[in-house]
Amino acid sequence: MAQTVLVTGASSGIGRDTALALARAGHHVFAAARRLPALEAMRDLAPPGTVTPLVLDLDDPASIAAAVAEVDRMTAGRGVDALVNNAGFATAGALSELGDRELRAQFETNVFGLMTLTRAVLPALLARGAGRIINVSSVSGRIPSPILGAYHASKYAVEALSDALRMELAPFGIQVVVVEPGTIRTEFAGRTLAEAAAARTTATRYGAVYDRAAQMEARFAGLAGGTGPVVRAIEHALFARRPRARYVAPREFALVIALVRVLPTCWVDAAMKRAFGLRSAVSRAAE
Ligand SMILES: NC(=O)c1ccc[n+]([C@@H]2O[C@H](COP(=O)([O-])OP(=O)(O)OC[C@H]3O[C@@H](n4cnc5c(N)ncnc54)[C@H](OP(=O)(O)O)[C@@H]3O)[C@@H](O)[C@H]2O)c1
Repeated sequence: MAQTVLVTGASSGIGRDTALALARAGHHVFAAARRLPALEAMRDLAPPGTVTPLVLDLDDPASIAAAVAEVDRMTAGRGVDALVNNAGFATAGALSELGDRELRAQFETNVFGLMTLTRAVLPALLARGAGRIINVSSVSGRIPSPILGAYHASKYAVEALSDALRMELAPFGIQVVVVEPGTIRTEFAGRTLAEAAAARTTATRYGAVYDRAAQMEARFAGLAGGTGPVVRAIEHALFARRPRARYVAPREFALVIALVRVLPTCWVDAAMKRAFGLRSAVSRAAE
C-alpha cells in the first residue's frame, strides 16, 4: 500500500536516492533539506505528484515546526506514515582542538534536530497506533575513531536514543529501526574534508594527522560504493513485516563491527592510531 514518508537530507546522497526510490515505487515522499533547488531538481526526476520538497533546517526548531505544519496541512492533519531521519554531517578535528561551538553544532544537527523532528511527527503516528521511524546512523556509531570523535559520538548517541525509542514506542505500534551505512559515495566525504581544511587555519598539534586523514578519506572515497545497499536497507526497514532493530549496509561492514567488538581495545587503538599516523605525529612533536 502506498505510504507517506518524510525523508530528511533528501537534497543529496542517501536521502536523495531513497526519496527517488520510494517515489518511483508509488509512495508519496516529503523530501526535506535546506537546499530547495536541489530538492526541486530531484522532484523533477520522480513521477509527477510523488515528491513534495520541504525546506527544513534541523538546527532551527522554528524551521522544524514549520515543515511539520506544512506536512499536516498537505495531509489534512493525517501526518506521515513513516519518518526517515537521514540528514547529517561529520565534523573533523581532534577533540582537544574542537571548540564547544563545533561540538554543539555536530550534535545540533545529528542528534537534537533528529529528536525535535521525531517528537514533532510522533503525535500523528501515536494517534494512528502505527508507523515507522528509521534513523540513519553509521558504522561510526559502533566503532571508535580519532579525529572524527565528534561525529562518532553523535552517531553513538543516535544508536542509544534509537534503542530507547524502540522499546518506548513499540507498545504504541511504532517501530524504530537503525540503518548503519558503511563508506558510501555521496557529498559527505567532500563536505567533511572541506570543513576540516577550513578548521586548519588555527595552530594545531595534529597537522600531519589531518593530512593523513585527508589522504585516507580521499582513498576511502575512491573505494566507496554506491547508495544502493543503503537505500534497499531503508526500504526493508520501512516495509518488512518484522524489521530487525538495525541493519548494516553494505553488509560487509558488519564484519568490521564484529571485529571491533571481539578484539582487545588496545589492538583496536593501535590499528586506528597507525591508520591516522598518530604514533609518528607524536614522536615527531617530541623531537
Ligand atoms: N556517505 C557515507 O559514507 C556515510 C557513512 C555512514 C553514515 N552516513 C550517514 O548517512 C546520512 C546521509 O549522508 P550522505 O552520505 O547522503 O551525505 P550527503 O550527501 O552530504 O547528504 C547529507 C544531507 O543532509 C542534509 N543536511 C545536512 N545538515 C542539515 C541540516 N542542518 N538541516 C537539514 N538537512 C541537513 C543535507 O542537505 P542540505 O545541505 O541541503 O540541508 C544533505 O541532503 C548522514 O546521516 C550520514 O551521517 C553516511
